[in-house]
Order: sequence, then structure tokens, then C-alpha cells
Amino acid sequence: MLGRSLEYFDMLVRPAKRLRGDVSLPGDKSISHRAAIMAALANGETRIENFATSADCASTLKCLQQMGVDVRREANTVWIAGVGKSGLRTPSDELDCGNSGTTMRLMSGVLAGQDFKSVLIGDESLSRRPMKRVIAPLTQMGAEIGSVDGHAPLTINGTSPLRSIDYELPIASAQIKSCVLLAGLNADGETTVIEAVPTRDHTERMLRWFGVEIGEKVNGQATRISINGGAELNTAGDMSIPADISAAAFFIVAASSLEGSNIRMENVGINPTRAALIDVVGRQLGGSIRLGEQIELNNEPVATISVIGQLEQQRSSEIKGGVVANLIDELPILAVFGTQLEHGLEVRDAAELRVKESDRIAAVVRNLRLMGADVEEFDDGFRVSRSRLKGATVDSFGDHRIAMAFAVAGLLAVEGETAIVGAECVDVSFPGFFETLKNVVVYE
Ligand code: S3P
Repeated sequence: MLGRSLEYFDMLVRPAKRLRGDVSLPGDKSISHRAAIMAALANGETRIENFATSADCASTLKCLQQMGVDVRREANTVWIAGVGKSGLRTPSDELDCGNSGTTMRLMSGVLAGQDFKSVLIGDESLSRRPMKRVIAPLTQMGAEIGSVDGHAPLTINGTSPLRSIDYELPIASAQIKSCVLLAGLNADGETTVIEAVPTRDHTERMLRWFGVEIGEKVNGQATRISINGGAELNTAGDMSIPADISAAAFFIVAASSLEGSNIRMENVGINPTRAALIDVVGRQLGGSIRLGEQIELNNEPVATISVIGQLEQQRSSEIKGGVVANLIDELPILAVFGTQLEHGLEVRDAAELRVKESDRIAAVVRNLRLMGADVEEFDDGFRVSRSRLKGATVDSFGDHRIAMAFAVAGLLAVEGETAIVGAECVDVSFPGFFETLKNVVVYE
């Protein structure tokens, strides 16, 4: 059984036989942030169904409320009365982004183009994460941003209009791209982001849903994504958020690893810039994943995903290059999957993992070793060999995806219980994760 140990927030997990049944997942975190921010900037009211239960998205809602946006919430339905793209009010207090990098970076883009001063703060983990990546383009656009050597707290002296720029992304990051596009909404002309490696395009899709024209030109390897400063978000209305593919990932890997598993997840977002995991697990690594009929939910493709516990021939054991940005949040759970694969798994070109909610390379390497796995650490990734995992006491490092990845590792262990210290951080993206897991785990 999964159960709480004496220390309230440590979680105990014991080896499982298989996973069976329907898995109910939270609304997508990335899409919910964007829905909330853009609904606030829109002209009119938006009703958002299946809004993410994640603590991160609650941080975004709270920041918007502090700037005078009327937000109402009943369970997972959120109503937001848009104030228009220049209608936010000076916040009376600091805006607390909690643990959420997406809140801080996207909100910076919005605040840079407002005629007031605001301060963005975050928790200890967020205050360690790099913010120069958004300060640089926003400063070029004319905002004045103070920071502690490129880290939060960020003091943003907004100005309206901003200068429109062409900005080539120095890092494959949807957060930087989104920050600049949102700032571009309040700029004096056309702002263009040039992306050499595709990153998740939820911002572009959501802006279009709200009636904003987004230019997209492919130029050799690069894509030029443009927004006009004259644009308004005029088509507020009802929308529904797809289930979160990054939350599905833990169940996909657990079910793929445990023979005899059979699970089903409905309405999962399968946006091609975000869902490489399905191809990587289902084709490259030999898993058995079936997608049902694809439909669109407010410009985002979704489908039912079924997974059975059956591993076929592994075609390759490498994940590197352009695909990395597409499954960046799934790499901790893929590292755990590597221990179950005949040829193991090597991940490279993923140095960004070191600046996520924790240093995810160090965290997976340390925890996998504690569980007896054979792992090599690189500056930009890791290599995991097929290993028999044993229960151990591992640390979440305060990082939701590490806690969930090692809950799955605990299920896959051949013997012993796994204690996850600091497991409460799963609430950052998936409150109820352990209960959801418990509902589908079979021990006998
Ligand atoms: C996110 C983009 C990714 C991802 C993060 C959410 C987003 O970050 O890791 O969890 O919603 O745009 P980067 O774009 O900085 O890689």
C-alpha cells in the first residue's frame, strides 16, 4: 500500500505488479497559465473548464487578482473578467510567483508593457533560477528591470508602448518565447521571435484562440513568430483545458514497465511540440501506446491514450538534439524508465535540466544510485543502464517531477520500500497524484 509514514510529508511506495484502470489527470499546467493570463488581458469574460489544479497555476491567478482582475473559481472551473491588455492595475504588494517559473517569466513579459512598477518574487527554488534570459529581451524593448544578479526578486518598471524587436532565442525555451510575444502585445510595431529549435507553441495557439494574428514563417531551420503591437484579444468565451501530458508521463512509464498493465487516459493534450514522449516511449523505446481519435479543444489537439504493459524491441537508447526541448519535463521519469530498458537510456543536450525546479540531472543521478542503478552523469545529461531497483530513501529536492518520478521508481523496484522525502511538492503540478496512483496500482 501507499501510505504516509510518521513524517507527515514523506511518502512510502512499495513494489507493484501492474497498473490497471482509468487515470484521471489534472488540466494542463502550461496551457492553464496561458489561458488565465490571456483571459485577463482580453476584452470580455472567459470561462475556463478543467483549469489545472496545480499550485503553480494558482500563483498565476493570484497575481492577476492582485492587479485588479476579477477571478472566480468553483472546483476546476475558473471565470475571468478580462480588463484588456492595458487594463491591469498597479499591484498593492509584491506578486508572489511561488515555485512557478512560467508565472514569473510570462508575467514579466506582460508587466514590462504596463505603465506601472511591480515586483515579482518567488520561493527559494525560483529565486535561484536564471532570469537574465527574460531581462535581456525586455530591456531591449525598453523596460527597466532590477534583479539580484539576474535572479528574483524582479523589479519591473514597465513602459507603454515598448519598442518592438526581432529576438533570436539564445536558449530553446517556450517561456522566453512567450515572454517576448506577450510583451509584443504592448509594443509599437511588429515583434518577432526567431526560434532555431521548436518549443511548445501553446502561447501562439492561445493567442490565436483569443483572436490575435500570429505570423509564422519557416526560414531554413529557424521559425520566425510575429505579433503586432496593435493586436487586441477580442474573442473571450468558453474554453476547456486538455489533460496534462506531462502528468500522464508518469503513468505511461509505469504502465509500460509493468507487464500486464492496461490503463486509459482521456482528453490528453498531444500537441506535436509537446508530446514527443508518446513517440519516444511508443516507438523508439518499444512501449505499447495507442491513441484514440484526435479532436481539437480550443486549438489544442487531444486524444485518449491507452497503454499496455508490454515492451517490444528497443530501437535506440539515445535522446538528444532537437527533441529534448519537446520532452524536457519528461526527462526525470524517462531516466527511471531507462532502468527497465534492455539497452538503457542516454540523454544529452539537456543542460537546461540543471536550472529547473531543482538540478534535475543531479537529482535523478543521486536518487537512482541510491536505488542501486548504474548511472553516469554528464554536464548535459545522463546515461542509465538496465538495473534492478531496490527500495531506498530518496529526496524530492522540493521538485514535483522528481517526487513523482521516484514514486514510479518505487513501484518498479524489485524489493524494498521507497520513502520519498518531501513528497508534498507534487502539489506544484499534480495535487492528488498519490491518490490517483493508488487507484490504479495492483500489488498481487
Ligand atoms: C514551460 C516551458 C518549459 C517547461 C516548463 C513549462 C512553459 O520551460 O520546462 O515546465 O509552460 O512554457 P522552458 O521553456 O524554459 O524550457
